Amino acid sequence: MPDHLSSSSTAVSRRQFLKHSTVLAASAAAAASFPAVLHAQSPRVINAVIIGLGGRGSGAGRDFLEAAKAAGVEGKIAGVADIFPDAARKGVENFGLSEDKCFSGFDGFQKALEVPNVQYAILATPPGFRPAYFQAAVAAGKHVFMEKPVAVDGPGCRIMYAAAAAARQKNLKVVAGTQRRHQGGYVETVQRLRDGAIGDIHTLRAYWVNGGPIWHRGDHGATELEKQIRNWYHYIWLCGDHICEQHVHNIDVCNWIVGDHPVKCWGMGARQQLDGKSGEIWDNFAVEYEYPNGARMFSYCGQIKRAWSSVSEAVQGTRGTADPGGRIQPQGGAAWRYRKTGAEVSPYVQEHIDLINAILRDADLNEGKQVTDSTLTAIMGREAAYSGAAGDWEAALNSTFRYGPDLLYTEPAKMTWGAFRTLQPPMPGLHDIYKDPPSAPTVQI
Ligand SMILES: NC(=O)c1ccc[n+]([C@@H]2O[C@H](COP(=O)([O-])OP(=O)(O)OC[C@H]3O[C@@H](n4cnc5c(N)ncnc54)[C@H](O)[C@@H]3O)[C@@H](O)[C@H]2O)c1
Repeated sequence: MPDHLSSSSTAVSRRQFLKHSTVLAASAAAAASFPAVLHAQSPRVINAVIIGLGGRGSGAGRDFLEAAKAAGVEGKIAGVADIFPDAARKGVENFGLSEDKCFSGFDGFQKALEVPNVQYAILATPPGFRPAYFQAAVAAGKHVFMEKPVAVDGPGCRIMYAAAAAARQKNLKVVAGTQRRHQGGYVETVQRLRDGAIGDIHTLRAYWVNGGPIWHRGDHGATELEKQIRNWYHYIWLCGDHICEQHVHNIDVCNWIVGDHPVKCWGMGARQQLDGKSGEIWDNFAVEYEYPNGARMFSYCGQIKRAWSSVSEAVQGTRGTADPGGRIQPQGGAAWRYRKTGAEVSPYVQEHIDLINAILRDADLNEGKQVTDSTLTAIMGREAAYSGAAGDWEAALNSTFRYGPDLLYTEPAKMTWGAFRTLQPPMPGLHDIYKDPPSAPTVQI
């Protein structure tokens, strides 16, 4: 086990991670360059399990089945797990499973990973559980599709980096649900930007600005922990807050274009329209990030009522501007626009096609580090805004403060529905997890 996984307080230098930092070119492009001949041991049937059978887990299961067909293999869902039995039982109706292959409870993920002859794990729980479940899936020898974001704090990110490196050593393929990296318009535009279409990029802007507050399912649940998991979007230990949970998509596009992650940031934000709703998240953030080469990314996200909304990115270079989704405007020249080929499939399916093709052709595909870089970028920005202090990559990466229960990163299968603490919404000037952890959990599970 790598040192930085066994000891959460061990410092990990940026250089150590940069050694493994080759950002994979978008896998749609990689898929096009796969050798035509299948790997000798290519499976003809790929069995998958889904862990976290909510909206996205169910959708990702269907996307996997469609992708398998497109890749010329038989895909099967061989088991599912959800913490709640009623959700787990959807595996019967939605995927034709017998009840004994629908697992629930805190150890459900483990039982799903033990289903025989499974090569592929789909991880779609709330992100707080991702580090522990990704680590378990890699330890069990599975290729992994996992939803974004992949952690909510520094200790979780360190588990992710280590497990992504372990997956590489075991030749396991990993794709993350940052689907823009599998979407034709983004893939081609970002490649052109990286090839210098608008010169040196110095300014990027990322938006995830929604026109209304996030869902809340009501305070049902026998215990505080159950209430929190049912309303996972409202708790930092489960979702990482809006900047991490949703805006990571746009931050990831900016990191992809620059080919690196920021190292400093300054931010602000607030909780303005969540009155009367349980939870401690904020509902808007504005963060200015600085990359090692001096480029700046201006990031804005929010889920409050307003007259406009935008989920987009924009880029400015020394010789032009671009919308990375498919438009480049060189200074003084004609605009270039991405033209659909007609062969595109949904990026949600394409990401599974790329993962399956990488398995079949034994191609290099591991998005574990890049999605963790983008997740930690969001976490660094969130903590800068929460605290009111400048954000620093090393501090975010090496932080020992865990937002979740004690067992979450060590023995998640042994968690129980016991009592759990509540946090107050973070207050700038008072909140600083790097110095004096706020409201450190008093009741642990
Ligand atoms: N890539 C995308 O565009 C996209 C879109 C939607 C959601 N997502 C991601 O998918 C993940 C899930 O989101 P969702 O919209 O499906 O939420 P959801 O609430 O619909 O589903 C989450 C499911 O996980 C279950 N769960 C909670 N804790 C669990 C645990 N410890 N073990 C097993 N199951 C557990 C819940 O009971 C629920 O059924 C999030 O990380 C989200 O960001 C990504």
